[in-house]
Amino acid sequence: MGSLIRKMKDKKILITSALPYSNGSIHIGHLVEYIQTDIIVRFFKQMGRNVVYCCADDTHGAPISIKAEQLGITPEKLITKAREEHIKDFSDFNIEFDSYYSTNSDENRYLVYEIFRRLKEKGFIYEKDINLPYCSKCKRFLPDRYVKGTCPECGAEDQYGDNCEVCGAIYKPIDLVDAKCSICGSHPKVKKTNHLFFKLSAFSGKLKDWLNTSNLQDSVKNQCLRWIDKGLEDWCISRDPPYFGFKIPDSDKYFYVWLDAPIGYMSSYSTLVGGAEKVLDAWNNSEIIHFIGKDIIYFHFLFWPAVLMAADINLPKRIFVHGFLKVNGAKMSKSRGTFLTAREVLGFLKPEHLRFYYASCLPSTITDLDLDFKVFKAKINNILVSNIANFFYRTMYFLKENFDGEFNDFVDKKVMGKINKKIDSILSSYDKFELTTALSEIIAISSIGNKYFQEKEPWKIVKNNKEEARNVLSFCLRISMIICSLLKPVMPEFCKKIEKQFNGNVYNIAKREFEVRGSKISKPEIIEKKIKDIKL
Ligand code: MSP
Ligand code: ZN
Repeated sequence: MGSLIRKMKDKKILITSALPYSNGSIHIGHLVEYIQTDIIVRFFKQMGRNVVYCCADDTHGAPISIKAEQLGITPEKLITKAREEHIKDFSDFNIEFDSYYSTNSDENRYLVYEIFRRLKEKGFIYEKDINLPYCSKCKRFLPDRYVKGTCPECGAEDQYGDNCEVCGAIYKPIDLVDAKCSICGSHPKVKKTNHLFFKLSAFSGKLKDWLNTSNLQDSVKNQCLRWIDKGLEDWCISRDPPYFGFKIPDSDKYFYVWLDAPIGYMSSYSTLVGGAEKVLDAWNNSEIIHFIGKDIIYFHFLFWPAVLMAADINLPKRIFVHGFLKVNGAKMSKSRGTFLTAREVLGFLKPEHLRFYYASCLPSTITDLDLDFKVFKAKINNILVSNIANFFYRTMYFLKENFDGEFNDFVDKKVMGKINKKIDSILSSYDKFELTTALSEIIAISSIGNKYFQEKEPWKIVKNNKEEARNVLSFCLRISMIICSLLKPVMPEFCKKIEKQFNGNVYNIAKREFEVRGSKISKPEIIEKKIKDIKL
């Protein structure tokens, strides 16, 4: 029994972010997701949980071949370069993966073939003739992103052939209104071709049960239930050549990128658990949590779980969806200069300021968030610098000046009681992936600390009641240690520097106790300074 309990407690948690496409740079919209996930993973790790963070580049499909064609290089070359760039971008924003792999890997091919074999064996795959747009000029079928037109559901213009970025609808390429070839711009004709389908419709009931019984965000759950109620269509999982992807066994066609992409979560995990042959066991014995953006709900809440059900593989425990990033109130746009890559913003802001800002506007709903540079400046200057960093600094400065950095174990019980309630709320907010609340409660602790400091006036009492002043400053130091540990998932680098100034004395959030390793702090230094206006 004891060992069973230990086993359950130690159950591995696998956290993933959606796999970014190889055809473009990481931009500030992507960063919302990777920063959000990284914060949660860091929090889990700080809590001592057995968690790993896996991701990979999504390397297959039409956009990648189109981009490689444009650049006059092979897709292989393109994806190798992209992955290197992505890894560098992530690391510069302190996003730390345990495995960052590629969907164009042997492991992924092995797993795609294995899962496809299971689907086929169980009778969930069938062939059907369908009509597809065909460009006579380019001499090719135009699936997915090779064709653009007006969304048949909501009327949004300039949408791709697979799904609408505005309303999220999934439709057939021939249903696009006023379709045009993405390569040459000519109007395609309709031509018959034979394709493989996955029986998604057979899973309507099971998907509904799963949606109704899992811990999912309400708006997402309801949207998926509406899709199911409208009737699910079977899913075309093959593509005509030329296509960059995995060849389908015994066929001249390729697997659609969205079949092999989520399997990429597994192949990335496989590098940590002894390879592709072992990963399905590991997966079935782990708790899986996916983080995704709201544009790919259909793929993750309908296609992916149905494929897993069909292949007898465990479903994710949670799929957590975030909204989209706007910049200065509007959709990111190249012409307005707000389509900023990760690399570009590194030129004018500190990566951890962006992490702080995103955390401050990431709720647990799928509402969009806005990167407004005026608000950004205000939050960094008035909250991070004036409220938090300044509290750390003045506490340590006074302690160093008046007591050579020597602190005692004084704790004001009443104030500590208030702070303990805040800690409860912060830990539970982190657990609910509610970063806005977690951060605002951390800030609230800092305000409590500042108020205590102001009211006790240690700079005055030090003149005639030295020990009382030492008590006040020592307690402020403990409050700083608490804030620092709670803020660490959001700003790991800043907090590590502060911990150095604490001289290794920290607050352990898992045990909820102070770990005091000495009675003196080191030399305090100013780390965060106010920032200037950011003009794009
Ligand atoms: N390759 C697919 C995911 C496959 S997962 C098996 C994909 N790639 S993506 O590069 O377009 O997007 C990666 C993630 O970034 C997605 O979750 C997407 O929602 C998110 N974001 C992309 N642009 C975004 C914003 N502007 N704002 C917030 N998140 C955004 O989709
Ligand atoms: Zn064409």
